[in-house]
Amino acid sequence: MRANFVLIVSLIVGVGVASYLFSVHQVHAAQQAMRAEVVTRSELLTESLDVSVEPLIERRAYRELRTLVERFANRERLEGIAIYDDRGALLDANSRFPASLKTVPGAVDKALAQDQGAGDFFSLDGNLYRVYALPLHRDKKVRAILAVFTDASFIRAENGEIWREIFLRILVEMLIIATITVLVIRWAFMGRIREVAEWMRDLRAGDGTAKPPVFEGDMFKPLAREVTHLTRSLMLARAAAEEEARLREAGESLWTADRLRVYVQSKLEDSRLFAVSNREPYEHFHQGRDIRAQVPASGLVTALEPVLRACEGTWVAHGAGDADRETVDEHDRLGVPAEEPHYTLRRVWLDKQEIEGYYYGFANEGLWPLCHIAHTRPTFRAEDWECYQTVNQKFARALLEEMRGAERPVVLVQDYHFALLPLTVKERFPSCRLAIFWHIPWPNPEAFGICPWQRELLEGLLGADLIGFHTQTHCNNFLETVDRALESRTDWDRFAVNRHGHFTLVRPFPISVATQDGNTSLASPAESTSVYLERAALFKELGVEAAFMGIGVDRVDYTKGILERFSGIERFFERYPAYRGKFTFVQIGAPSRTHIKRYHDLFADVESEAERINWKFQTASWKPVVFLKRHHSHREIDRFYKAADVCLVTSLHDGMNLVAKEFVAAREDDQGALILSRFTGASRELRDALMVNPYDTEQVASAIYFALEMNPEERTARMRRMRRAVKDNNIYRWAANLIGELSEIRVEKGEILGQPSLIGPAVRRLRE
Ligand code: G6P
Repeated sequence: MRANFVLIVSLIVGVGVASYLFSVHQVHAAQQAMRAEVVTRSELLTESLDVSVEPLIERRAYRELRTLVERFANRERLEGIAIYDDRGALLDANSRFPASLKTVPGAVDKALAQDQGAGDFFSLDGNLYRVYALPLHRDKKVRAILAVFTDASFIRAENGEIWREIFLRILVEMLIIATITVLVIRWAFMGRIREVAEWMRDLRAGDGTAKPPVFEGDMFKPLAREVTHLTRSLMLARAAAEEEARLREAGESLWTADRLRVYVQSKLEDSRLFAVSNREPYEHFHQGRDIRAQVPASGLVTALEPVLRACEGTWVAHGAGDADRETVDEHDRLGVPAEEPHYTLRRVWLDKQEIEGYYYGFANEGLWPLCHIAHTRPTFRAEDWECYQTVNQKFARALLEEMRGAERPVVLVQDYHFALLPLTVKERFPSCRLAIFWHIPWPNPEAFGICPWQRELLEGLLGADLIGFHTQTHCNNFLETVDRALESRTDWDRFAVNRHGHFTLVRPFPISVATQDGNTSLASPAESTSVYLERAALFKELGVEAAFMGIGVDRVDYTKGILERFSGIERFFERYPAYRGKFTFVQIGAPSRTHIKRYHDLFADVESEAERINWKFQTASWKPVVFLKRHHSHREIDRFYKAADVCLVTSLHDGMNLVAKEFVAAREDDQGALILSRFTGASRELRDALMVNPYDTEQVASAIYFALEMNPEERTARMRRMRRAVKDNNIYRWAANLIGELSEIRVEKGEILGQPSLIGPAVRRLRE
């Protein structure tokens, strides 16, 4: 109320002052115009009189002069006409000439002195007059002055009138403003505020479904956005607290984002968390005139993003989007996610040559096929190796810049792109705790041994305090590789390597996905209507008529076994023709690393295989395979996960494969079957999936049939057990285990690593 009053009074005062200032100007202008009119009229009259008077003066015809003066003196507003002699004494005047004007006005003296017309306004007895004096000549000499007096008092009267009008106008304006303000406050502001308040009250009362008021394109939008974020955060916090209480009550030890946050804070105390990866969590691209953020297709990003959100900190990554430079500050940083920043993304820029050599070349044509047993020959080029070293140094520098001033920072380096980074960083910042997580398989020593720079890579990795792999087999392979390639002591009891006094622990940490904190659904096993409808809607969007849906989600990579999967599907239709026209397999394939010929060719092969199979079986309204060859957001993919009858993961070799876990996590209805390659890390945990050897086409075909024919109770039971496994071992547990293990490690004082004698011969050679 008080605020309204202040607003109205301020508006009234503001408008009043502005109106007054304009009015002053307006009155002044009107006054000037009226004076100008008086001046013009009196001068015109005087000059027209002059023509008649001057000859009379010349002839000294005073009687005629008087008659003339009397004739003119009847004009409107003319107060009097007087004639003065050349010394300024009154010679003659009209009969009604007021006695008060008989004093000689200054204008007469001025006209005499200057021998030209002179005019003046003056006040007398409360009246305003105007006198205009004009010299009259005889024998070319000034003989007399003709003075015409005009009554200008009407100017003052008009002024008063104008001010009265102005006052009335301002009064009316103020009344209108006050009324409009009250109405606007009532209808626009109070109404909106009441809507928001009601919505927030509903939310506070626990109605999570309450819809926020719609503020399309008005000034309340930013406020509404912030309130929405705030309430969402509060809802999440409340849900998390309720979940925690429920878990405590049920004696469960589930890991949640909040639990991880608290745990990491207690473990790290005042230290900060840093992550380094090649792929960034958000890429920015130009789209027309806009800039669009995209979460790239990467298992690493899927896994690590929730951890950074929960623990905050800084993530250093390659800025690969074409609009990335436009979205960072002067330190190449930005807060992400944009709608509610939780952590800092620091972008590192690479030039074309560096991307060629380090990313496409050494990392993806060398290390990727080296570590995946998928029958693609690794290619090692010396110039790629050079680039790989340069880029590792570059990322190390960026990371060290970010860590400047941090007390005992904790660093999580990610993947095969940065094998050399641990040693470089630990040498320069010995008090940091550093772990590297290798997201892809580690092959046996013979396979890894073909890499010409295996020793340098191993030495770089052993700079870390902790090395993580998805499975125990990968840990064993790594330790055996170190054993064979380097001079070091492997402690098989502790699973650690002691190299020149520096210990590196090697541990399995099976990575996972973020799971919804809610309870596993107890819904009936029968398919819910919404799943059925969603599936029908998706088929409609795809222009296919079918009853059953299979789904595959992959980067188009030769390790993912997409062609093998297609062979299995083809065989399925050959062996079970009753499913023709009824089952459609949707392959979401994100283009990946397409500058590498092997990937480029594979993409074309996947396309043509899909076409070939379609040609073989398709009908007018049905297709066996739909290949969606573009990047899809998590939200888009989630619709397919939720609607599919079966998900196929047929990797030829895969460190973990998070698509399998994402599919399971998405099935809140406990429905859907998972066909999973036994060559994935995920197969160790998801024991209730239908395991296949992707090279065995008959087995893949049978598994699809089995998945579709499986009785609903069994399907539900399998899915529930898999969901339990994913929930128990979610990404928060992964991060807690990794960070927990890292924080337990006693970090030696930096000097030890800093001594050149502790750097292995391979790395020494590198530096020389
Ligand atoms: C694998 C790697 C990740 C990588 C992802 C996508 O999951 O382990 O490090 O980010 O593939 O590959 P890309 O080359 O597109 O980053």
